[in-house]
Amino acid sequence: MVLLLPSTSIVIFTFVTLVSSVCNLVTSDPLCPPEYLEHEIPITKEDIDMMQFAENLEHLECDLFLWSALGFGLDHVAPQLVMGGPPPIGAQKANLDFHTRKLIEEFAYQEVGHLRALKTTVGGFPRPLMDLSAKNFAMIMNEAFGYELVPPFDPYRDSVSYMMGAYVVPYVGLVAYVGTNPNLKGYVTKRLLAGLLGVEAGQDAVIRHYLYDRAGEVVHPYNHTVAEFTNRISGFRNRLAMCGIKDEGIIVPHYLGAEQRTESNVLSADINSLSYSRTPPEILRIVYGGGNESVPGGFFPHGANGRIARNFLLDQPSHN
Ligand SMILES: *[C@@H]1O[C@H](CO)[C@@H](O)[C@H](O)[C@H]1NC(C)=O
Ligand SMILES: *[C@@H]1O[C@H](CO)[C@@H](O)[C@H](O)[C@H]1NC(C)=O
Repeated sequence: MVLLLPSTSIVIFTFVTLVSSVCNLVTSDPLCPPEYLEHEIPITKEDIDMMQFAENLEHLECDLFLWSALGFGLDHVAPQLVMGGPPPIGAQKANLDFHTRKLIEEFAYQEVGHLRALKTTVGGFPRPLMDLSAKNFAMIMNEAFGYELVPPFDPYRDSVSYMMGAYVVPYVGLVAYVGTNPNLKGYVTKRLLAGLLGVEAGQDAVIRHYLYDRAGEVVHPYNHTVAEFTNRISGFRNRLAMCGIKDEGIIVPHYLGAEQRTESNVLSADINSLSYSRTPPEILRIVYGGGNESVPGGFFPHGANGRIARNFLLDQPSHN
């Protein structure tokens, strides 16, 4: 703290007031006032770590959606956002009908925007190694059902299979962002988070509605309905995260429905129909696929990047 003589303080105060009123004159628009309160903190060091954690999830969605819809990934679309990270394992174009492909293409480009917004606002790290192979999804489904599906589940096989694979991803971002919100301090990071949360929640709702429309259909060649797949995936994520029910399928018993009155469950939410919230260790337990935030695997064979995720990997240096 610098002590100033009263007269100097007044001079500085007057100068600052003058500058800000000049700025207001330049930018003020009575119809569109500034979004932020004056004199608040834009961003803090802790905010940066929390928002960088989100980059892992956005990378996962981005390459999954890009590859599935277009047959190429972030290295082709926006190589500067990759920052030298290794290419994803097993990414491929999915066998999608026209409508589904357009939907996923839009989601894919939205993720590119999210990554650009994140990396320009809080800085970034190289894309972590990600496993987007059909084999990884097949392992998730086997764990979800508790036995080995034959033939192995393949999200790239057709549109409905793909949307069930997609069901696995944006919801994790959604609940992670709800969990991040109360811990952010700066208005720049809060604004960024709310923008990401809105679109992730929208993507999740579109995927869930797509599956809800087909809830009773049997997923060939398996003897399970679409609804059962969602319930199994959600149940598996709850088991991995180890913090109770925060994830629900699209058809549920009444006690999990809205106001405990509906079996339809297009949106997964708590007793007051508020979105569930998860912490970084819960998220890592899910995306690593093994229920332990210190043991990488699943979608991130070498672990997620950034300070928060790396801190759970004792003795392991930052790694692509
Ligand atoms: C498929 O599921 C239905 C209902 O659970 C059951 O009655 C039927 O026997 C199953 N068929 C096979 C081939 O497993
Ligand atoms: C998670 O893995 C670490 C490192 O292998 C181990 O020390 C820890 O006990 C595991 N935690 C649980 C809950 O199994």
